[in-house]
Amino acid sequence: MCGIVGYVGRSEAAPILLDGLRRLEYRGYDSAGVAIVNGETIETRKCAGRIANLAKLMTERPPAGQYGISHTRWATHGKVTDENAHPHFDHSGKIALVHNGVIENYAALREQLVREVGHKFTSDTDTEVLAHLIGSIYEQLDGKDSKARLVNATRAALKQVIGTYGIALVHAHIKDFLVGARRGSPLVLGVGKDENFLASDVSAIVAHTRDAVYLNDFDIVAVSRDTFEISSVGGDTGSYQISRVEFGAEDVNRGEFPHYMLKEIFEQADSVRDAMRGRLNTEECTAKLGGLNMTAAQLRDVTRIVLTGCGTALHAALVGEYLIEQLASLPVEVEYASEFRHRNTPMSGNTLVFAISQSGETADTLGALRESRRKGYRTLGICNNVASTVARESDGGVYMHAGPEIGVAATKSFTSQLVILTLIGLLLGRMRHLSTSEGSLIIEALEALPGQIESVLKLSDHIRAIAKEYVSVNGILFFGRQFNFPIALEGALKMKEITYLFAEGHPSAELKHGIIALVRPDLPSVFIAPDDAVFSKNLNNIEQVKARKGPIIALTSGDGRKQLKGIANDIIEIPRAADVVTPVLTVIPLQLLAYHMAVELGLDVDKPRNLAKSVTVE
Ligand code: M6R
Repeated sequence: MCGIVGYVGRSEAAPILLDGLRRLEYRGYDSAGVAIVNGETIETRKCAGRIANLAKLMTERPPAGQYGISHTRWATHGKVTDENAHPHFDHSGKIALVHNGVIENYAALREQLVREVGHKFTSDTDTEVLAHLIGSIYEQLDGKDSKARLVNATRAALKQVIGTYGIALVHAHIKDFLVGARRGSPLVLGVGKDENFLASDVSAIVAHTRDAVYLNDFDIVAVSRDTFEISSVGGDTGSYQISRVEFGAEDVNRGEFPHYMLKEIFEQADSVRDAMRGRLNTEECTAKLGGLNMTAAQLRDVTRIVLTGCGTALHAALVGEYLIEQLASLPVEVEYASEFRHRNTPMSGNTLVFAISQSGETADTLGALRESRRKGYRTLGICNNVASTVARESDGGVYMHAGPEIGVAATKSFTSQLVILTLIGLLLGRMRHLSTSEGSLIIEALEALPGQIESVLKLSDHIRAIAKEYVSVNGILFFGRQFNFPIALEGALKMKEITYLFAEGHPSAELKHGIIALVRPDLPSVFIAPDDAVFSKNLNNIEQVKARKGPIIALTSGDGRKQLKGIANDIIEIPRAADVVTPVLTVIPLQLLAYHMAVELGLDVDKPRNLAKSVTVE
């Protein structure tokens, strides 16, 4: 939540900062702003609303200068107003600062600054307090080296802060110089030639450089045009490694697609292929997951698995529960990451915990990961974002390799998570009771997926027509059983977050326990009923809705179409697949249904209201 970009170099900063913000808009879009140093003046443009509003301001009054900072906001403290938009300034007006995170003790610090040094504040934000605190300490410090003084003031201020931050700041009188720091919110340093960058995410800077240093918590970085120096808030000299970003600028463009979400839905044949690339051992009919950093003996000793995550990742975990229990006969529990820390979940020494997160930066998931490690459990990550905090703080894990996911609604990361959980089930299963022939069937089913996904994607026009039919409804119900019960939850989540329609997902059999009271002619039900072991049971539930005149959209495969003819109002037919991999195919039509409904409703698919892609606050 919130995105920051900083630039120092020989080019004009304005277009670089603005372009970077556009790439980070998925992190929040309540307001945006830039501060660029021109001579000894800081030129600021900021306003409430989307980056398009800021771009207009910057066109009307272009800010000049070759270094500066910028921000796109997801509001936490203070309403969405021009005054609360970042950058914020210190008391002297010479230091400008942008911030991603939450300063929890801001009220006490603010009160202290008012009481002791008579500071006045112009916004309701926690960020402005941090800017004032740094400025106040800077004024008190001696020393001719103003760069070192600014770094030391930042360090001293951050020592007083409770909370999370990814920050970038400039001083009007310190030429060609930025300071950045992080704790709990991501910050990456982009290393260029005669230019350097700071950003919340490499996608903001990958058009300029693919060399990046992923900063660690408590790192402070002093950045000039041709050099940088990393130290810690504690004062130690930091060690760092320059990594090569694995994707390029073209990967973060929408290409010919009208929305990132649609592009990412259509990338799923490739992303699913990438999730299993090099990980299938066809000879021994098992999976190879070296990143788990566990020996076969250690894996064999595991007696229980906990899967944790939030939102879409939690739904993947729920599918994972069915998968791993079926393939490996191991007890699996799924925990909302946000609740995990607040429960006394009984855990034995042989419990293995997986934290699932596309971004690898979700605060709740990180909280669960840290709690699990604190209690001494081996904790592994399943992430997309290489070098993310989840990846770095885990004992090992599996990368999704799905490429950047920019649409706020998670799509391709979900199917990659499903593939990885199947691989984990296969690996653990083959060490236990799963036979070679069963293992071989799973591998065949996985290998068939990319081709089957291509067929499902061809249904997009058909699904658009269905979306048009139902565009005026007030809500939608989603039902599924077994592996596809979590897909009903995921279908409802996609629908809610981008169409703002009331939507709920349930196990089909729960209908008769209460939900059936909702059924009426203007409330459609989507049934996920592939031709699988529970098809006939799903069919009973579909009949129950039909008998009460509820419209039915049925998602089916194989012989399902024949049996649903004359019962379902609309049928979406996907290829028949082994039950364990079916969710990878059933979720895609639901992603498309939500997408086409949102487009029909004229909504902003990639930037749904009130949401942000990466939820770095609790
Ligand atoms: O980055 P993460 O996978 O940790 O994100 C978790 C959720 O915030 C995320 O899946 C959210 O629910 C999506 N907007 C769903 O589309």
